[in-house]
Amino acid sequence: MIRVAVAGAAGRMGETVCSAVEGAGDMELTGRADPKLGTAVADVLGDADVLVDFTQPETALGNVREAVAAGVHAVVGTTGFDVDELVGLTGANVFVAPNFAIGAVLMMRFAAEASKHMAKAEIVELHRDGKLDAPSGTAARTAKLMEGDVPIHSVRLPGLVAHQAVILGDVGQTLTIRHDSIDRESFMPGVLLAVRKVGSLEDSPVVGLEHLL
Ligand SMILES: NC(=O)c1ccc[n+]([C@@H]2O[C@H](COP(=O)([O-])OP(=O)(O)OC[C@H]3O[C@@H](n4cnc5c(N)ncnc54)[C@H](O)[C@@H]3O)[C@@H](O)[C@H]2O)c1
Repeated sequence: MIRVAVAGAAGRMGETVCSAVEGAGDMELTGRADPKLGTAVADVLGDADVLVDFTQPETALGNVREAVAAGVHAVVGTTGFDVDELVGLTGANVFVAPNFAIGAVLMMRFAAEASKHMAKAEIVELHRDGKLDAPSGTAARTAKLMEGDVPIHSVRLPGLVAHQAVILGDVGQTLTIRHDSIDRESFMPGVLLAVRKVGSLEDSPVVGLEHLL
């Protein structure tokens, strides 16, 4: 059994991750850390093999450092912080994905491929209002994987979950590659896969779900 603690356990993603871990036959949910629950990350590390972090841009880095220092592997979904800050941490492994949905991983791959063949591209990403970072981690990662300068437009509205269109243009034609997460369940197979694999990574940190597929 993999013992899993969740940071941000009272949040939208954290609650969904807690349920997914409880539903996985090979995992045990051993801790829920969240200021809203009165439990700090330090309180849950003693019983955990893996910490899953879905918190906030300004807290994720500190949580991961604490976990790794305690020998606990970290799976990070939080976006909006500098992933380079995780380079060089020793003691346990770190896996980060700006998007754990398989469809989003494919969207990024197809967009990278299409950018080699079409003149220009722009990204429109749409998320719930109240999301703390813009552009989204997925959009920033997509732009990084594509050729050329790719401007990003951010839309924040109630009712949205996580959506992105990559629009490419060339003489007389456009191509739109679009992904929609309409439910947070879309991220759970990717999160559980990362929990299962983070302990055996040969490198750390590893960024992107594509490296586990
Ligand atoms: N990688 C992905 O696939 C993916 C998918 C969706 C969302 N996200 C990202 O996940 C993060 C969380 O999103 P959300 O919608 O669940 O936000 P949310 O605001 O609903 O939840 C965040 C939770 O973190 C808690 N928190 C704050 N500081 C903490 C700390 N130091 N330790 C423990 N918990 C702490 C907050 O109290 C809150 O309950 C965001 O960065 C978002 O962009 C990533």
